Amino acid sequence: MPLIDFDLIAPVYNKAMYVAEKCCLREWRRKLISRVKGKRVLEVGIGTGANIPFYPPHIELYGLDSSRKMLGQMPDEYVQRLAGVFISSADKIPVENSFFDTALSTFVFCNLEAPEEVAKEMVRVVRPGGQLLFLEHTSPCNTMLKASFKALEKVTVPLMHEYFTRDVRKFLEKLPVKKVHEERSNSGILLLVEYEVVKSI
Ligand SMILES: C[S@@+](CC[C@H](N)C(=O)[O-])C[C@H]1O[C@@H](n2cnc3c(N)ncnc32)[C@H](O)[C@@H]1O
Repeated sequence: MPLIDFDLIAPVYNKAMYVAEKCCLREWRRKLISRVKGKRVLEVGIGTGANIPFYPPHIELYGLDSSRKMLGQMPDEYVQRLAGVFISSADKIPVENSFFDTALSTFVFCNLEAPEEVAKEMVRVVRPGGQLLFLEHTSPCNTMLKASFKALEKVTVPLMHEYFTRDVRKFLEKLPVKKVHEERSNSGILLLVEYEVVKSI
């Protein structure tokens, strides 16, 4: 168990993210959500709902998060925007196969204890021909920066189960999905990647 979990940091999460959101994350969130093609969408690890303002009104949006306290920090107008909320771990998504057109996550895979299982579950709940979208941070292209991130993980992994250099694409490799788009920025740290689900599992 990490010493710090999302229930603990929930009350300060939005404030702690404020500068990063203003400087660049908001722009990337907008970019990611503009790629959503489906109508029925699941956001895994929705947290305090930072992506919610970017969804067009026709989207039927469901949110899932394992931290009740993170969900509790979501403003009322965001909660009202949701068609449904699941308080659950994403390694067991409580819906039937192929229920969603799109499943996505932003800055979630860096923390997961069972990333392979979560990737598999995201594929399971999306219909064939549907899409998976991820905006995650990953290992930088620059060697020095990569070494610093690796060093930082020596502290952040035991403290809060935070893997700065984790690569979400690794967990999709053996699943029936096809990559359709990829972008990186900020020395390769930010990764936006889109897959199509080829067949159900
Ligand atoms: C860094 S926050 C990101 C929140 C939001 N996606 C965003 O972009 O601001 C990670 C979120 O993932 C959630 N989370 C971590 N492990 C999870 C799991 N196994 N199942 C569901 N949610 C999880 C946390 O509670 C937290 O809300």
